Amino acid sequence: MARSIIDDGQLKKLKRVAEDLKSEKDELRQLALDTKEAFTVCMAELRLMLESKTADFFRVLVERYKAEMEKRRQLHNQLVEINGNIRVFFRIRPMLEAVGEQAIKMDEMDDWAIDVLQPGGKKTSHGADRVLTTTLTQKQIFEEVSPVITSCIDGYNVCIFAYGATGCGKTYTMEGPIEDPGINQRAIIQLFQVANEKQGDTKYSIQLSMVEIYNEKIRDLLNSSLSTVNIRMGEDGRLTLPGSTSITVTSAEHVSQVLESGRANKAIACTQANASSSRSHVVVRVTVNGVNSITGESTTGHLNLVDLAGSERVSQTNATGQVLKEAQAINKSLSELGNVVLALRQNQKHIPFRNCQLTRMLEDSLNGDSKTLVIVHLSPESRHVTESTSSIAFAEKISKDLRFVQCASLAPTVCTNRSMGCQRQLAMLKGGDIPTRMQLNFACAEFLQWLAPTWFENKKAKKASTIRREPREIRKCESLRRFSSIESIDSAYDAALVKEDWPVKSQLDNEPIEESREAIEDSTSPVEERPTSSFGYPEIGVESKKLKLRFSRSV
Ligand SMILES: Nc1ncnc2c1ncn2[C@@H]1O[C@H](COP(=O)(O)OP(=O)(O)OP(=O)(O)O)[C@@H](O)[C@H]1O
Ligand SMILES: [Mg+2]
Repeated sequence: MARSIIDDGQLKKLKRVAEDLKSEKDELRQLALDTKEAFTVCMAELRLMLESKTADFFRVLVERYKAEMEKRRQLHNQLVEINGNIRVFFRIRPMLEAVGEQAIKMDEMDDWAIDVLQPGGKKTSHGADRVLTTTLTQKQIFEEVSPVITSCIDGYNVCIFAYGATGCGKTYTMEGPIEDPGINQRAIIQLFQVANEKQGDTKYSIQLSMVEIYNEKIRDLLNSSLSTVNIRMGEDGRLTLPGSTSITVTSAEHVSQVLESGRANKAIACTQANASSSRSHVVVRVTVNGVNSITGESTTGHLNLVDLAGSERVSQTNATGQVLKEAQAINKSLSELGNVVLALRQNQKHIPFRNCQLTRMLEDSLNGDSKTLVIVHLSPESRHVTESTSSIAFAEKISKDLRFVQCASLAPTVCTNRSMGCQRQLAMLKGGDIPTRMQLNFACAEFLQWLAPTWFENKKAKKASTIRREPREIRKCESLRRFSSIESIDSAYDAALVKEDWPVKSQLDNEPIEESREAIEDSTSPVEERPTSSFGYPEIGVESKKLKLRFSRSV
């Protein structure tokens, strides 16, 4: 009989061990299952927690981002506003004829003004927000106007008008020769560039349409059959032009291609004054749509680039028939445009948009917080001085605005009304970050008053008074704003001395100087405490002190 290797006792022991191992294995298995379950629950909880935390964090980030975007938009807008929502520039075309005298020049002392030599030999001076001289290149001209164009990206409406008599260079400024393009092409390309820079968060699309207003009819220039275009004002206050072709432009080359095709369809004629005279107002309308992928917000801004037909003295051009009809339509609409801009500047209740197609079409782009720039073009030749003078009159008409009136009327307040004057204004200014244009004007007026006593004293003038409501004085007052941003106080000072025409000079009247000084000192803070920094305009304090010092030393 075979002998068993394991006896019964050992077998029992082994069985017990095997059972123990099995139950341990079961326990471990259960433990693993429990752990897995616990882990799954934990992970789910963790995910929930993370999701809610991330969502919160993201929400805060989006809020902050929105606030930053809004702040940037407002700052840019304020910057443009400081320069004025409606601005008037002069552009003097270079002399085209070698013969004859140059009757219009920039005022050598003041790049805010031009001097005009009138036919009788009398010299007159006229101011604007800026004078673009003959030496400026197309690129430099564009740089002068480009800040206002960027507003369009932020959803503001912008209008740039080229105004002036026939042959003075409006089409040159807006279209320019192909090899040296004007504002139209450069503006749209700039919009592309800015849009591309911001493309990360916001997706932009840029659409272009081009129409002309000929004899009070609007025609589509991007359609060779020149189909008629209508104007429709939507309930949202947005204006549309049913019937006009709108092309989404995709590159700089595409822009010039589209502009070129529109240009070929324009109404032009050979007149006595210009071999290729524009007989219609040409409006290039650029629409910039932006959708922010983070915030979901969208903006729409319109940029209207308007090459106006030339203002003509019908009697002088021997116009008859069709040309006479065209000239009458042109003159009527230009005059209506002037009325609208003037009414806007003066904040009138009724703005006569509906009186002609040009202003009807631009109603949404001229209204509200839109930005408008009128470039008044002037021929420098003496034989065109009559036409230039009437263009200057147009510029002066639309420049008659609240801003100047306010500046003129606030200045005496500083001097004479002590409690209501400077202190209140300064307190008001302390609240804001960036002064508005009016506030800056006020600061200038105030600055002039502050400067006046030293000047009067040194000139041994007997009498002083408040700033007169003369355009030239107010303009000079305007020009003092330069000191806040440009370090040109020395040259400005020298120029003023040479010219012997410092703004305060004509403020003389019958008020004794002592009285005037007292009034000024009483109505403003002491010089050391002059709260220039409190109205966010710090340089003027430093510069004006320098100027005052120089006046007292050298006059
Ligand atoms: N800044 C400039 N530099 C050189 N040439 C200029 C300049 N401005 C205008 N010209 C030239 O003067 C002529 C008339 O200019 P343009 O056609 O632009 O006048 P316009 O004001 O548009 O006239 P219109 O009202 O009749 O259309 C053109 O030959 C143009 O090339
Ligand atoms: Mg033209």
